[in-house]
Amino acid sequence: MKVYIRTFGCQMNERDSEFIAGLFMEKGYELIDSPEEADIVLFNTCSVREHAEERAISNMGHLMKQYKNKIYGMVGCAAQALKGKLFERLPKLGLVCGTGEIAKLPELVEKIVDSSGGLNLRYLEEARKSKILACENIDGDIPELRSRYRENNKRAYVSIMRGCDNFCSYCIVPYVRGRERSRKIEYILNEIKGLGKRGIKDITLLGQNVNSYRPDFVNLLGEINKIQGVEKINFLTSHPKDANIELFKAIQDSDKIIKHLHLPLQSGSDRILKLMNRGYTREKYLNLIGEARNIIQGLHLTTDIIVGFPTETEEDFNDTLNLMKDTKFGMAYIFKYSPRTGTEAAKLADDVPADVKGKRHKILLDLQREIHKRKIYEKTRCHCVN
Ligand code: 5AD
Ligand code: SF4
Repeated sequence: MKVYIRTFGCQMNERDSEFIAGLFMEKGYELIDSPEEADIVLFNTCSVREHAEERAISNMGHLMKQYKNKIYGMVGCAAQALKGKLFERLPKLGLVCGTGEIAKLPELVEKIVDSSGGLNLRYLEEARKSKILACENIDGDIPELRSRYRENNKRAYVSIMRGCDNFCSYCIVPYVRGRERSRKIEYILNEIKGLGKRGIKDITLLGQNVNSYRPDFVNLLGEINKIQGVEKINFLTSHPKDANIELFKAIQDSDKIIKHLHLPLQSGSDRILKLMNRGYTREKYLNLIGEARNIIQGLHLTTDIIVGFPTETEEDFNDTLNLMKDTKFGMAYIFKYSPRTGTEAAKLADDVPADVKGKRHKILLDLQREIHKRKIYEKTRCHCVN
């Protein structure tokens, strides 16, 4: 049987899809890169913003109209967030599987295939229940983080942790990916040693907040740095409240670690940062990046910004704008706020009108483009994956 997997969202999801692909291939399925010929169509979804979620649902709806006799499955964050509601939106959907259950996917698909009603069965009691189960550990490792199939023979993502405990008020990740769990250091090092032996020299460590890796992220970096065969080390994402001088020194002192930090700012206004529950102020953020730039030669600093968070005034927005003008990030990903059901911010009125969000979004995009065009953002080019 042939499986098609499409990924929406972040690098965490890309790694999950690669893992899922490996599981199916081990069971003898063929992986294909277009949905027409597939028997099984899986979408590994993102729910961090409304737009991403809607795009996945509408794309799957189109495919379902075009091709009838396939098993369709929604997997990952949006599946976890929307649960049974997805069956109402997509009546032909065969499977919903949450983020903590992806290791069971081939088993669930086999059950659908074996079911007497044929491929179009709206099966699912079991998957509906199982998708909410907590992640279980096998041999102390987190099942869906285990290394298997690798798409690329030059570089690889390595998950070092899963979930998030920060509960930023706008963010759905803690609800869909669960509590923070660090993977044991020996599993991570063994995986990377294995990659090194296969000639994979470029490693990106993944976690929602790598700086809160337990017991010690800087120590983990030091150990990875010693592994023979590894030449480039990158990591995503850092939270400004947990990044520190020890980390900056470790980056500067290693000739393998890429001189790149992704430090999401989200807003330049103290009032909004507090409402977002970010755990730092504007001043603290500015001091932090000042230290990072002092310590790390040729640092490539990137960020995420949300415009139009509930109650954001012109004054709050100008705080963000001015901070961006002064800081001159190498790259800034700018998002319009969208409420996510279940989060704290979703309890507030989404009161910044769409046209105001659009205007603020454009102002920041234009500013960032200008900074990029004039190359006034950094001293050296960075070779990170982003
Ligand atoms: N609305 C808009 N942007 C969001 N992000 C996270 N949640 C939301 C939301 N509800 C952005 C943040 C985060 C990035 C991955 O997505 O900027 O850093
Ligand atoms: Fe990644 Fe978050 Fe989107 Fe899930 S919701 S795919 S963790 S960005």
